[in-house]
Amino acid sequence: MNTKTTVISRQSLEEQFSYCDRIAALWAGAGRTPKAYVETYGCQQNEADSEKLRGFLAQCGYAMSTEAEGADVVIFNTCAIREHAEQRVFGNLGALTHTKRRHPEQKIFLCGCMAGEPSVQERIKKSYPHVNGVFSTHHLWQFPQLLWNVLQDNKRLFYTEDEPGSIAEGIPQVRDSGLKAWVSIMYGCNNFCTYCIVPYVRGRERSRKPEDILAECRSLIESGVKDITLLGQNVNSYGKDLDCGVDFADLLARIAQLPGDFLVRFMTSHPRDASEKLFDTMAAYPRIAKQLHLPFQSGSSRVLKAMNRHYDRETYLNKVAYAKKVMPDLVLTSDVIVGFPGETAEEFEETISLIQTVHYDSLFTFIFSPRPGTPAAKMEDTTPREEKNARFDRLCAVQNAISEEIHALYIGKTLRCLVDGQDKDMLTARTEGGRLVRFAGDASLIGSFQMLTITGATTWSLTGTLD
Ligand code: SAH
Ligand code: SF4
Ligand code: F3S
Repeated sequence: MNTKTTVISRQSLEEQFSYCDRIAALWAGAGRTPKAYVETYGCQQNEADSEKLRGFLAQCGYAMSTEAEGADVVIFNTCAIREHAEQRVFGNLGALTHTKRRHPEQKIFLCGCMAGEPSVQERIKKSYPHVNGVFSTHHLWQFPQLLWNVLQDNKRLFYTEDEPGSIAEGIPQVRDSGLKAWVSIMYGCNNFCTYCIVPYVRGRERSRKPEDILAECRSLIESGVKDITLLGQNVNSYGKDLDCGVDFADLLARIAQLPGDFLVRFMTSHPRDASEKLFDTMAAYPRIAKQLHLPFQSGSSRVLKAMNRHYDRETYLNKVAYAKKVMPDLVLTSDVIVGFPGETAEEFEETISLIQTVHYDSLFTFIFSPRPGTPAAKMEDTTPREEKNARFDRLCAVQNAISEEIHALYIGKTLRCLVDGQDKDMLTARTEGGRLVRFAGDASLIGSFQMLTITGATTWSLTGTLD
């Protein structure tokens, strides 16, 4: 397969902007500002893509709405990671027949990871006639053209041809926050973990050029952003497709040396490629947040092999030990799957013992969900659902106790936190490691770093006072 990274030409993007102009002109004649609503499911990668969709929509003259009711354009940016996520989308998509009945001109689109699944495309074609268009992540950059064509012909359009993937630089973005920003550094995934649908729907790994990423970060920092999260399914393979001599640790170091008062963090790191160089780089630069999301998925080496993760329990534990050695204050989080096909009670105990050994600050816990087309969906799975639920509950209980214990250790510490919002009569802030702190203070502090002394803790959050 051709794995060379293709960059969408400036000319092709200009063509899309000319569709934006035509759509804006169309609405200028309508005598009212059209409204658009984007609903995002799934991970930060989708959040980042939605910011681009909003950027295009703004350029087409749309104002953003907070609900589908009355919106002229509705976009569902979807997630395919588990069956439950898809069911929710289908349910909510079905409900749009009502909003469309009340506003027949409404144009409805489905995009994101589900749009990359042929079975979903078929289902939309057959059973969701109120959906006007479907486009996979590879075609996001062509959204203005799709919208224009739908507005002109009122035909249903599917931009879903499978492609190895490309990179489009220069799509406008309407960001959710002026304080925190997602920056995608690469797209797609080459890992093919046996349970995972992402490589099928997002294509092969492709990295943005370091200079494009640095320019984006620089301009974000200049505009007042204080917290940047670099995004990729496996950030540690950054640059492998570019041959530019810059790996992920090098990129991180370059960003950390940009002028300004900010923090940079990243997700997700694949344990196979997480190197001592990466951990040393994190430790060396004060602007790199001492936070690491390092999904382990299972504590059993046999299960890890069946998952095609390319590391075993021991290697994982050694990497974590090194990271903790060079960053004693490291905040560690992870993902874990319970009930992978063939996981025995003993293998599940290995998962429990791994979390007890590592002591994560928090965990994202999932029950295995078979995804059609992935190898794990065809593996024999004899563990009853009740047993999987029981394992899941046990895992959550063990982790909650650990999170509570770790949070209690914060009490009495004074930490530099980014004040990021307001919740009722309290302000909210985040520690460098991403933990939530509530404290009393004046709203003018939002957007600044403050020293907070932690006075209370629960499983989920901390309370503090201004120093
Ligand atoms: N690229 C990231 C993960 C992205 S998906 C990584 O490799 O770490 C986020 C998480 O969803 C995964 O880490 C995994 O724990 C979970 N997940 C993915 N596919 C799943 C499936 N079929 N069933 C249950 N959980 C799944
Ligand atoms: Fe999925 Fe594995 Fe790629 Fe993560 S690394 S996106 S779990 S295939
Ligand atoms: Fe979901 Fe796609 Fe992210 S499947 S988890 S939205 S990459």
